[in-house]
This record gives sequence, C-alpha cells and structure tokens, in this order.
Amino acid sequence: MENAQYEKKVMKRFFNPKYAGEIKNPSAVGQVGNAACGDIMRVFIKVEADKKTKKEKIKDIKFKTMGCVAAIASSDAVCEIAKGKTISDAKKITKKDILKKVGKLPQIKHHCSILGEEALLKAIENYELRTKLHKA
Ligand code: FES
Repeated sequence: MENAQYEKKVMKRFFNPKYAGEIKNPSAVGQVGNAACGDIMRVFIKVEADKKTKKEKIKDIKFKTMGCVAAIASSDAVCEIAKGKTISDAKKITKKDILKKVGKLPQIKHHCSILGEEALLKAIENYELRTKLHKA
C-alpha cells in the first residue's frame, strides 16, 4: 500500500491540498511530464505588480495533476512557498525548501517530488516569454 511509505505530515497535505485546482485566466501555465510514469503536472500562476514596490509577484498559484502522493503533496508545498513571492525569488526555490515544507519523501519518489517545482519554473519561463513578446 502506497501510503505506508509516507510520514503523517505528507499524507495530511496529500488528503487536503490547499492549492489543487486551476486558475481562470492565469498569467501563465507550466506543464511537465514524468517520464518514469507518464503522469502530467500543470502549474497555473497569476502574476501582478506589487502596488508599493512595483515588483511582479505571484498573487495566486494552483496545480493540477494525476500524479501520486509524492507529486501532489510536494506540488502543494511548492505552491505554498511560491505564493506571494516575487518572480525572481520564486525561481530560487530549492528542493531543500520543498522537502522542509512537505516532509520526508521516499528516495524512489524523487522524480515525482520535483514535478511541481519544474512546472512552476516552466510557468515562469512562459510568463517571461509572453511579457517579453508583449513588450517587443
Ligand atoms: S508515480 Fe507518477 S507522479 Fe509519482
């Protein structure tokens, strides 16, 4: 049984993810696939300029996947960390930050646990490309 591999903290997040879903009219979407299992991960971001600093911040973020416990729990943690961050700070989120937030994951699930982070980086890349094209 899969949940025997996970600690309570991970299972709690898996059963009650705060950031699962979609954003209507997102600023950008990032999608990656897990080559090992064929599952897909999508991250939706809504970016707005901060009223005071004018820096672009991730105002809202959601993920959608058909992935496993590790993929869902770690992506939820990525979203929680990234929400409210500037784009440049969100790019600096590390695997260590994610594991600290989500809890210990089995080594065999490493490829699943990086999907959310990869999809977020893809979403940011798409956002930057879109804004660059828009300004050109
Ligand atoms: S087994 Fe597919 S995402 Fe984990």
